[in-house]
Amino acid sequence: MVTVEAVLGDITTQCVDAIVNAADSALMGGGGVDGAIHAAAGPALLEDCRRVRATTHPKGLPVGEAVATGAGNLPARWVIHTVGPNRHRGQDDPALLASCFTRSLAVARDLGARCVAFPAVSAGVYGWDAAEVAAVATDALRADLAEHDGVDLVRFVLFSEPTLAAFQSALSAAGPLL
Ligand code: APR
Repeated sequence: MVTVEAVLGDITTQCVDAIVNAADSALMGGGGVDGAIHAAAGPALLEDCRRVRATTHPKGLPVGEAVATGAGNLPARWVIHTVGPNRHRGQDDPALLASCFTRSLAVARDLGARCVAFPAVSAGVYGWDAAEVAAVATDALRADLAEHDGVDLVRFVLFSEPTLAAFQSALSAAGPLL
């Protein structure tokens, strides 16, 4: 049985196996949740990101993809970086956003991370409506979790009351499968 929940909070303080970062392709940190994660994790995270760029992803991480690093000083063990579609650049395909969630879960399973926290990927600087992100994330999870074992807890950690309400509403609409 998988638990899927939505809470109000700061993802950097979550005691889970892995937290997901709403990064950009360069993986060099930024604002929003990306900036908060790098600030809390300390320089070891940036070093890990540089290593990813120097090895597996010299051209950066594509939109909709995910890659793991260590988590520096964070309570979590890993950070899974994903790049959401940027609506301001015309990236409005929900499949790309869904892919952020499913690819992050696939990376979590490969790591053996059973408890995973997600932010509202693309709902900040990248300009997606929080309710749409919540609906896309919930649908993606429903299909993914029904098909694959290995993850016991998915926690959406939302930074504002309206975003929390959007996720709560999407989760209750999805029903008991989640
Ligand atoms: N914990 C949880 N959620 C947070 C936190 C935090 N500490 N800080 C911000 N958020 C929320 C925002 O309020 C928003 O709802 O995360 C959601 C995603 O917003 P962004 O961080 O702006 O992410 P995104 O829209 O995917 O844009 C990515 O922003 O700075 C960058 O490098 C990043 O260029 C990339 C872009």
